[in-house]
Amino acid sequence: MRAAVLEQFGRPLVVADVELADPGPGEVLVRLVACGVCHTDAYTASGVDPSGYAPTVLGHEGAGVVERVGEGVTMVAVGDHVVTLFSPQCGECIHCASPDTNLCLAIREQQNLGHLPDGTTRLSRDGEPLRHFMGTSTFAEYTVMAQISLAKIDPEAPLDAACLFACGLSTGLGAALRTARVRAGSTVVVFGAGMVGLGAVAGCRLAGAERIVCVDLSPQRLELARGQGATDTLSGGEGAVEAILELTGGFGADYTFEATGSVAVMRQAVEAARMGWGLCTIAGVAGRGETLDIVPRYLITGRRVCGSSFGGLKGRDDVPALIDRFMAGEIDVAPFISHRITLDQVNRGFELMEAHDGIRSVIEF
Ligand code: CU
Ligand code: ZN
Repeated sequence: MRAAVLEQFGRPLVVADVELADPGPGEVLVRLVACGVCHTDAYTASGVDPSGYAPTVLGHEGAGVVERVGEGVTMVAVGDHVVTLFSPQCGECIHCASPDTNLCLAIREQQNLGHLPDGTTRLSRDGEPLRHFMGTSTFAEYTVMAQISLAKIDPEAPLDAACLFACGLSTGLGAALRTARVRAGSTVVVFGAGMVGLGAVAGCRLAGAERIVCVDLSPQRLELARGQGATDTLSGGEGAVEAILELTGGFGADYTFEATGSVAVMRQAVEAARMGWGLCTIAGVAGRGETLDIVPRYLITGRRVCGSSFGGLKGRDDVPALIDRFMAGEIDVAPFISHRITLDQVNRGFELMEAHDGIRSVIEF
């Protein structure tokens, strides 16, 4: 089968024939139908991520169809439509048992090493093992994954839209609906109008927020934010906090969301939260070693800060439910699919992202 291989950091991916072994116990063979190109793939490909490894098959925003299941697989069956989950849900570990986190512990260590749960790989090329990226490796015609890393979705849902729920869109929706639990009638500010920020805007709208301010440097992205329910838009930069205070009677917002990954913007998101109860949710991923500066007085006077990974969503339960809301017409996904490309054009997808051209390129197989 064909797959996009990261051979060397800082070099374009190489689309090549690779071998994929049969699914082992608890594993599932998935035929990919669509896959988004996400910032995290490019971050690893660049070599800047110190936890990255190569050679590996990148990709983690996949949607497809179950082709074959290994021994003991009970969570999905052949023919099921699935969304891949880089954030699995085993349903049994101490974190899965808690309503307060989605950070499943079951396969974390092996996944971080690029292995399937048994410590080996199903991917290889000319006899040499290739590692699995984020437990997903979806820049490929097929992938083998742990069954706990697959969300079974409505078979009617178009898979080109469904794949966006594998990462960025769900991260934003979940940050608003699950991590922050935005209350109806509230005022919110979302910093960043990429995939995650736009998802957060949509999530705040679904939660019934009355006022949704979106901050970004790009007028085109702010236009997309309006389409998702933003009531006000602001150009970002130095004066953003002052502008937000002005818009909110001097107090700041009930909820703020950070979806840029810049620690300077994170600080603005903290300072734009309201005294007394303002909750700042950090969804962006900062560079390794960077730190966030907060003046402690902001916290003493009632602001709170929390982080959100994959929107706090428990993937096998919550992703199918979000797809149902999409199918019910509550979430408008089409504006996020800016480009449709083939697997051979995967490097083009990275270029478009670097040029901030559109929100998502989706690979169709
Ligand atoms: Cu991603
Ligand atoms: Zn778990």
